[in-house]
Amino acid sequence: MKILGIETSCDDTAMAVIEVQSEKRKVKSGEKIMVSSNIISSQVKLHAKYGGVVPNLAAREHAKNIGHVFDLALEKAGIKNFKKEIDAIAVTRGPGLGPALLVGISFAKTISWIYKKPLIGVNHLEGHIYSNWLPPIGINSNLKFLIFKKEPALNLIVSGGHTELVLMRGIGDYKLIGETLDDAVGEAFDKVARLLGLGYPGGPALAQRASKFKVESSKLKVPILFPRPMIHSKDYNFSFSGLKTAVLYKIRDLKNAGAVLTDSVVNEIAHAFQEAAIDVLITKTIRAARKFNAKSIFLSGGVSANKLLRERLEKAVRKHGLNYSQPPLAYTGDNAAMIAIAGYFNCKKNRRDSLKPVQMDANLTF
Ligand code: KG4
Ligand code: ZN
Repeated sequence: MKILGIETSCDDTAMAVIEVQSEKRKVKSGEKIMVSSNIISSQVKLHAKYGGVVPNLAAREHAKNIGHVFDLALEKAGIKNFKKEIDAIAVTRGPGLGPALLVGISFAKTISWIYKKPLIGVNHLEGHIYSNWLPPIGINSNLKFLIFKKEPALNLIVSGGHTELVLMRGIGDYKLIGETLDDAVGEAFDKVARLLGLGYPGGPALAQRASKFKVESSKLKVPILFPRPMIHSKDYNFSFSGLKTAVLYKIRDLKNAGAVLTDSVVNEIAHAFQEAAIDVLITKTIRAARKFNAKSIFLSGGVSANKLLRERLEKAVRKHGLNYSQPPLAYTGDNAAMIAIAGYFNCKKNRRDSLKPVQMDANLTF
């Protein structure tokens, strides 16, 4: 089965082709999966001058690029005859920016109608979860699916728009147990990076500056320490906007005291912010896993590219004797291979939306 995935929920126009093959073995049957193409056309340069994604501009760029991205995704996957070779189309229907989502959905509906192919509407966040099952491009690998009816998996989804803890007992069986009450953690990384003059989107740049900080080389009399918002709260929600404000005040206080924001001070602020954000994420994830008796923890979303988060979370999870998975770096950010595989799992479960029209829902949730 070959599935075309389409993703336009934010500022990446992305399309991918995945292939899933069922294998009948003597004892049990298995499946093999391959990502045949994974095209991502980023608009980051366009939005950089506004310091954030402008929805109508994003939609205009998607409309401009989507035909070309479609051609490239098919060409790289070696698809010559769409009608004969592609079995289904999966498209992100939310959450995301309304005008941007509509471009991908309209395109998907058009080709689904022309080629008479089933169309599957996918939750973008469900896509992030399933990025954990994607092998590197061009590699045919066994698709191992864990059954965790009695032993749920806990997903920590961290991106520019979301910070969620989602309990999962199987395909389509999700329960949102915690989320951010204000800024998403990726958004906080981006805003703090902006305060420090590190450009947009600043998450990766901020992480890089944080990694350069060495405690012993700090020139400040008192080490910088930021609060860990909601770390002791009984629920599983997060809050990152206060942490961002704490950084703003720290910069103001340092400047008022005559300090200059040298590279070394910027590195120290970046480090202290990253420590605080990651500490809260890990502490609450582990606590939630214990409370809900989760046997596995899966990380996903754009911020799952963060090296320190990957290392620290894996260590904490293993310490508690749980299974751990994080997506390959190629699939941490927005991509369409994750939408295609989420479409495949939904199809398998007969959760396909092909019979009812796929509807855009900018606020789609679990
Ligand atoms: O999932 P994603 O690509 O898009 C959304 O659905 O939001 O996530 C993008 C977010 C941005 O906020 C970006 O700064 C952040 O992921 N990000 C990082 C890193 N790489 C990307 N944040 C921290 N450290 C990183 N290495
Ligand atoms: Zn995303």
